[in-house]
Amino acid sequence: MNLAEQNQLKRAAAESAAALVQDGMILGLGTGSTAALFIQALSRRLAADGLRIKGIPTSSNTEDLARSLGIPLSSFAENAQIDLTVDGADEIERGTVCLIKGRGGALLREKIVAAASQRMVVIADETKLVDRLGSLVSVPVEVVRFGWQATARNLAKIGGNPSLRLGNDETPYVTDGGNFIMDCAFGPIAEPKEVAHQLDHVVGVIEHGLFLGYASEAIVAGREGLKTYIRSGN
Ligand code: A5P
Repeated sequence: MNLAEQNQLKRAAAESAAALVQDGMILGLGTGSTAALFIQALSRRLAADGLRIKGIPTSSNTEDLARSLGIPLSSFAENAQIDLTVDGADEIERGTVCLIKGRGGALLREKIVAAASQRMVVIADETKLVDRLGSLVSVPVEVVRFGWQATARNLAKIGGNPSLRLGNDETPYVTDGGNFIMDCAFGPIAEPKEVAHQLDHVVGVIEHGLFLGYASEAIVAGREGLKTYIRSGN
């Protein structure tokens, strides 16, 4: 699939999610190229239908984009709960709608927003669909800077095969929260809950990109059209 076609599919999923937005909603605004297309579609809907919503962004990039489009923003100081979050993903497991997120580096805020959301809808093109998480991408793990080498050794002990993420200038990539990211190549993960549990207990790990049980549905655009995957199981 070429980039133009992939962008067209991302846009179709984004437009479909924008149609779910209702007047008065508090919205979680995701991060990444697909989420950006949703935010653009949302701004068109606000203008066309006069909807009054407030968005809580999951990254400083998303915040900048939303502000530039005149989307009203809010925070957890004013809201305990989010009605609907729309976000992208790096992998979506068919059936469970469990996810790997964080290639864009925003996994910590994304998970805080997802956890506070009544409904989380993931939007993606079909290249993100997998039968097993870890088949295509590594699991991003956000770690504190202090002692990151010790944390990396402990991630290796649980089979994470970690590598420190670097930025364009070859220095360590730094998240919005001021932390580092270790990309952990577990390979296809048979027991995601078990791996999530292990990651939760590595000292120095702040959060990881396994999103299990957060998304209620995924709108996935493919050559055959749009398909919605509803969470089952967990
Ligand atoms: C950001 O940290 C990620 O979780 C993104 O949601 C993910 O990388 C999807 O990005 P694209 O929509 O650009 O593929």
